[in-house]
Amino acid sequence: MDRRIKRVQAREILDSRGNPTVEVEVVLNSGVHASASVPSGASTGTYESVELRDSDSHRYGGKGVFKAVNNVNDIIGPALIGQDVIEQTNIDKLMISLDGTSNKSGLGANALCGVSLAIARTAAVAVDLPLYRYLGGPYAVLIPVPMMNVINGGIHTLQQGPDYQEYMIVPYGADTFREALRWGSETYHALKKLLMEKGFKIAVADEGGFVPAISSNEDPLKLIVTAIERGGYRPGEDIGIGLDVAASAFYKDGKYNLRIENNQLTSEEMIDRYAELVGKYPIVSIEDGLSEDDWSGWEKLNAKLGEKIQLVGDDIFVTNVQRIERGIKERVANAVLIKPNQIGTLTETIAAVKMAQKVNWRVVVSHRSGETVDSFIADFTVAMGTGALKTGAPCRGERIEKYNQLLRIEDDLREAAMHPSRETFLY
Ligand code: PGA
Ligand code: ZN
Repeated sequence: MDRRIKRVQAREILDSRGNPTVEVEVVLNSGVHASASVPSGASTGTYESVELRDSDSHRYGGKGVFKAVNNVNDIIGPALIGQDVIEQTNIDKLMISLDGTSNKSGLGANALCGVSLAIARTAAVAVDLPLYRYLGGPYAVLIPVPMMNVINGGIHTLQQGPDYQEYMIVPYGADTFREALRWGSETYHALKKLLMEKGFKIAVADEGGFVPAISSNEDPLKLIVTAIERGGYRPGEDIGIGLDVAASAFYKDGKYNLRIENNQLTSEEMIDRYAELVGKYPIVSIEDGLSEDDWSGWEKLNAKLGEKIQLVGDDIFVTNVQRIERGIKERVANAVLIKPNQIGTLTETIAAVKMAQKVNWRVVVSHRSGETVDSFIADFTVAMGTGALKTGAPCRGERIEKYNQLLRIEDDLREAAMHPSRETFLY
């Protein structure tokens, strides 16, 4: 089989919000081909690599990605012709040097990410392995616990819901992924019924979670506890709760501005609030409880709650080994969120995962609020043995496709499939 790259072709497609994004197809001399597409965030961290957009207001409100597409077709693609497709690290390194910047503003992280993921997928096809096995080897057998966002707020609801961006259910008591997914879906439907009973309009946000017009940041937690019970599960025993506060979005001049509470809190007050919530509700994970720039606040937060629950850094780390390294040194968290498009290439993403795993931090792989049906992250999570994946509610095709891919992988692994134990989430 001739694994050398014959052609790399990018095109502009649409994501789940109807915004343009990049899809890349790689074709080998043998005729083998595969493609991948790039997701896109809304509550994007300031320190993420640059997502290159055209800024041509006549197309898609400036969000077109022709520049990134052309960078693949005219610059990256030609440089990769003739390379062995399994040379992922060398290919990623070459792209990083072609880009020539520290934040991927040269060619665009969306251009690099599309190529990088498409290279991996094509290589897997070329060597005739499922993607998770190609990337993770024969011992990649851990299927993650899904962290499912069932109530949305913050930027993802254009500020029509609570201030906190994501209220997730975490069905860690299940013995298999298939069961965890069922528990999550049943709870989601119990929540829907409950919201209808309470007179809320049923609408879903970008990640499939409901958007009740609620005037409290705490009420969603109560609703979720009731929904878990109504679904027939025990809150805290079978299913826990995770939050992605996405606090960078409402941090200004050293204060956390909670719109629906008409309240401005200091880091210390936010931390006290989290400690109180953790005491009252079965919360097992808080992501971005504080802002991407509030390193000293994070340190205090981790000192207070880091022994009790998972504290996940998203905007503060942006899948960047330099920022994660600082986070490890300064003890600001005990877990990292991983999004390949935050940094650009698969090689850099894997370096971020490994750095965190080396010091026993938890790793949560994540979708973006703007997604496509590409399920790369499902395979990637298993390959890296992270044990956790957040990819939205059990609703909307682009979210469900990742969960469905995990069902396929679980079947494919048969007896070998492993699932994190409940204790993984209960410290
Ligand atoms: P984003 O949100 O994809 O809009 O950045 C997801 C997250 O904050 O985790
Ligand atoms: Zn986040």
